[in-house]
Amino acid sequence: MAADLDRLAAWLRCPVCTADLRPVDRLTLGCGNGHRHDVNKRGYVALLGSGTSHVGDTADMLDARERVLEGGAYSPIAAAVSAACSGEHIVDAGAGTGYYLRAALPGRPGAHGLAMDLSAQAVARAVRSSDRIDGLVADTWRPLPIRSGVADVVLDVFAPRNLPEFQRVLRPDGRLVVVVPRADHLGSLRETGTMLDIPSDKADDVIHASETLYALLRREHVAYDLPLTDDLRTALIAMGPSARHASRHTAEPVTVGSTRVSVDVLLFSRR
Ligand SMILES: C[S@@+](CC[C@H](N)C(=O)[O-])C[C@H]1O[C@@H](n2cnc3c(N)ncnc32)[C@H](O)[C@@H]1O
Ligand SMILES: [Zn+2]
Repeated sequence: MAADLDRLAAWLRCPVCTADLRPVDRLTLGCGNGHRHDVNKRGYVALLGSGTSHVGDTADMLDARERVLEGGAYSPIAAAVSAACSGEHIVDAGAGTGYYLRAALPGRPGAHGLAMDLSAQAVARAVRSSDRIDGLVADTWRPLPIRSGVADVVLDVFAPRNLPEFQRVLRPDGRLVVVVPRADHLGSLRETGTMLDIPSDKADDVIHASETLYALLRREHVAYDLPLTDDLRTALIAMGPSARHASRHTAEPVTVGSTRVSVDVLLFSRR
């Protein structure tokens, strides 16, 4: 449950009229124009505009991701993300289960984060995992129901990016932290045909697309060989995009004993 509704509301604006949201009663947020939004009993709010047709991650994908992340397989990525983050207000767009947001929240009691995801189940898990995480179900591709200039950091790890909206919600001196896979990320697993291809190094595309809105401060390549157990191998496949397209692949035995983790952690300042 979110620590309090004031803290949740302080991040948010009305998806209908963009006025700031405030608590109206114990389970409702509202704006000055009379729009009302229910807060889920589990402590997060869903602010989806009309017409959202995207689907967030399923419970099975989230279970698999939690097995991978909580087992420490990506802890070097979390360490690099944490080192790139600063300040007390962190918005994690496409937060999933909130693993990187938890890692990024510094040791100060005042620091807290907003886990945003299209999947309500993911947001519920992120909120449950820490009393310093508020939760928002929203679509990254829509105008975000988040106030302008509230975030010290916007974090985006393997998730869709809305660069103009991320810039709007950042403070003038805010930072954007993006994690994207390299072409060789989990290469040996992909060679088995069980995962979809990553076309090329995505970092170049992000850097190019962000040029007018952000200045690149740092590009860190985090890469290591990850030993695979049967459980980890299965979970890595089940948590990824291939899980939804599983029927396209014939189930062939996967026997690789290790795989390469290879991602770029990009740190940008807001222009
Ligand atoms: C590959 S997962 C990454 C999750 C988390 N950042 C992590 O690395 O553990 C992508 C996440 O983006 C979410 N997502 C996909 N499309 C979205 C959208 N349009 N708006 C918000 N979240 C979205 C999914 O539900 C999923 O949780
Ligand atoms: Zn409103």
